[in-house]
Amino acid sequence: MSTNSLFNPINLRNHQLINRFVLAPMTRRSATSEGIATSEMADYYHSFAKGGFGVIITEGTYTDDRFSQADLNQPGLVNETQVEAWATIVNRVHQFDSLIICQLMHGGALSQCREQTIAPSAVLPKGVRNTEDGGLIGPFPLPKEMSSEDFSEVLNGYVQSARLAYEAGFDGVELHAANGYLFDQFITPHTNLRTDRYGGNMYNRLRFLMEVFQGIKEVVPEEFIVGIRLSESKVNDLTYRWPGGSATAIELFDILKEINADYLHIAAEGGNWARECLYEDGLSSSGLAKKITGVPIISNGGLHDISIAEALLSNQEADLISIGRAAIANPDFPQRVAAGNSTVPFFKELIKPSLTLSHTRTVLEKFK
Ligand SMILES: Cc1cc2nc3c(=O)[nH]c(=O)nc-3n(C[C@H](O)[C@H](O)[C@H](O)COP(=O)(O)O)c2cc1C
Repeated sequence: MSTNSLFNPINLRNHQLINRFVLAPMTRRSATSEGIATSEMADYYHSFAKGGFGVIITEGTYTDDRFSQADLNQPGLVNETQVEAWATIVNRVHQFDSLIICQLMHGGALSQCREQTIAPSAVLPKGVRNTEDGGLIGPFPLPKEMSSEDFSEVLNGYVQSARLAYEAGFDGVELHAANGYLFDQFITPHTNLRTDRYGGNMYNRLRFLMEVFQGIKEVVPEEFIVGIRLSESKVNDLTYRWPGGSATAIELFDILKEINADYLHIAAEGGNWARECLYEDGLSSSGLAKKITGVPIISNGGLHDISIAEALLSNQEADLISIGRAAIANPDFPQRVAAGNSTVPFFKELIKPSLTLSHTRTVLEKFK
């Protein structure tokens, strides 16, 4: 298959995409301290639409004023001021033929900025907070086990944020169930010790995610996209893999197929698809997701290597590919690939999750 496969149109619900390139969600910590998106963020997202990305997924955006926020200067989607700020960004992106999807995120136990956190169970997270991002330093706090009131508040927060995303003009939302954050804490056996209907077997561990998905579907119009992002690796545990390998993946996707998500985004947070998505038996999480659920699959992790991206498409292991770090250095990544032009390499200084947009600009200038 030639590079052309990356430029074949495809549909997400009733939206036809211009190509298979998706901007991966990336935290930029550049909103105001009240979680309001800025004009700097509008320029940033506009640059990817102008650069030819078929779909832009925003950075993780918090969903309630209580426990969801994961980072300082993270944008939120919980009030009208935040909606208006996002609407400006959405309009800038829609000047081009790109879709824009808001990633909705609850940090759970992995908040960089909250003194008190909630999680499925009171289990101390691995690792320490990121000392460079101006948030709290040292170990993560011990989270509070979620009560039934917490369940309702998280669910209502997600449903209301999805409603507000529609009001802001977004084409859809992505539920962040990857990278070790709240929904992933439910899926992962060692962070979910619950003995009620939300703990124990895989169905129970997926139940809350599926309830939130269905709660959102009940309030948004038919054409509004609701996708889900999953991963094995976690921000605080990059080498974590599902305990049963491909057997766990098969069990998980067999259950998730029930809800018929508009897409699944299978991520490799550490940036290496083969290391984080491939099993010893040669099967892959994205390939299994595609085969079992039948919904469009976005693959991620080092896929700026176009030969790997093309192979995933031709092997039926993905329908779309998301690009993170390489897009920061190349907002016009799809156009460069289409023209057969080389891309600017990305380097460590550019891609620390703690870097804000203004830091990124300074680094890019320095290395020009
Ligand atoms: C600066 C930075 C911030 C990130 N923030 C998020 C985020 O908000 N939500 C998310 O799901 N993944 C986040 N990620 C992970 C990326 O979406 C992606 O999985 C990772 O960069 C690997 O893809 P790549 O090899 O194309 O860079 C972030 C990655 C980076 C580098």
